[in-house]
Amino acid sequence: MSAASLNITGLTAGYSQTRILEGIDLSVPAGGKIAILGRNGMGKTTLFATIAGQTRRHAGQIMMDDTDLTALDGAARARAGLGLVPQNRAIFRSLTVEENLATGLKDRPRSAIDEAYALFPRLAERRRNMGGQLSGGEQQMLTTARTILGQPRLLMLDEPLEGLAPVICDALMEAFTQLAASGQMTILLVEQRLKAAFDFADHIVILERGQVAWQGTSDALQSDPATVERLLGVGH
Ligand SMILES: Nc1ncnc2c1ncn2[C@@H]1O[C@H](COP(=O)(O)OP(=O)(O)O)[C@@H](O)[C@H]1O
Ligand SMILES: [Mg+2]
Repeated sequence: MSAASLNITGLTAGYSQTRILEGIDLSVPAGGKIAILGRNGMGKTTLFATIAGQTRRHAGQIMMDDTDLTALDGAARARAGLGLVPQNRAIFRSLTVEENLATGLKDRPRSAIDEAYALFPRLAERRRNMGGQLSGGEQQMLTTARTILGQPRLLMLDEPLEGLAPVICDALMEAFTQLAASGQMTILLVEQRLKAAFDFADHIVILERGQVAWQGTSDALQSDPATVERLLGVGH
């Protein structure tokens, strides 16, 4: 398994007749680390859902390496190597941690679960606990680990740090950085915590009302506080 590139051109999509995304162009090289930023309601989750095949696409193309994802349904996109960790941390509350992980194995052997425990040792300690007994941070580790067991070549993480304590955020961001460094997956991160996004990403895209309002390197954005304030600041 090796990381896949993503090339989106002219993407317009939404829910039934409502257009949320308008003319999105986005290029991520294989192995890239990209953060998608923007205030609430600007279309970040809709962009991930559209790449995953869960919305209505009106126009545009989504290429993962040489595969045209728009020709595939959601399940086929997952089989082609697309992984989405949704914002709501969907886990099975009445299954154990280990049973939750097993649902992510696809046709891999059970022993592959050890990869998840190596990435998040905390999950190994909690392997026999029910999903519903986990803290928010542990649930995020579980939902992330389950997706990773499916060996995605392109991984989308939707606000993984939301509502979590700083020490857990650090552990998660370290794991994401480690995954990207493995060369096995390209990572798209949506995050409200700017420092975490800046530290993680080499490239940043900012969405505003469903369009790309700015993009450039993490360094360029950090040295441009006026743009940060205009597109991401509070009180607008
Ligand atoms: N299932 C849906 N049906 C209709 N409109 C939706 C749905 N989900 C989100 N929206 C609308 O799409 C817009 C973008 O939402 P979203 O992609 O969730 O933004 P973000 O993730 O940036 O906060 C918002 O105006 C939101 O109300
Ligand atoms: Mg969202």
